[in-house]
Amino acid sequence: MNPRPVLLVNGPNLDLLGRREPEIYGRDTLADLEERARRTAADLGLEVDARQSNHEGVLIDAVHEAMTDHAGVIINPGGYTHTSVALRDALAALPVPVVEVHLSNVHAREAFRSHSYVSPVATVVIAGAGPTGYDLALRFLAERIVRQA
Ligand code: DQA
Repeated sequence: MNPRPVLLVNGPNLDLLGRREPEIYGRDTLADLEERARRTAADLGLEVDARQSNHEGVLIDAVHEAMTDHAGVIINPGGYTHTSVALRDALAALPVPVVEVHLSNVHAREAFRSHSYVSPVATVVIAGAGPTGYDLALRFLAERIVRQA
């Protein structure tokens, strides 16, 4: 049986990737990242269900879907990383592994970026690897999901 898809959630302002502070976030667009994730996932025998929103409630609703419909979650919560108790609570409710990904090394930047509401409820945290971070997250989930199958 095929495992359920992995939910890939990108939060606010990540729709601007490629144009937004490229010296920090690189030149790949969100479409590039999602396409790359789909290809990496396919190589690992997984499927990706990719979402992006600039709205906290929409992100929370997407995370709720993973209660039943997904085998794991990869989330780059963008700025909500540093502010959202509600998003953290939604992720904490999940019965599946959660990987928090940041393109940049949040610990090497402004002090407020070092605190994440999400990290304590994430299974894995990846920061600073650029787009490769999503590949690493998929690789982790592939091993987890196969081991639990
Ligand atoms: C980010 C880091 C956050 O601090 C920032 O607000 C973002 C992107 C990253 O991928 O490096 O929007 O999550």
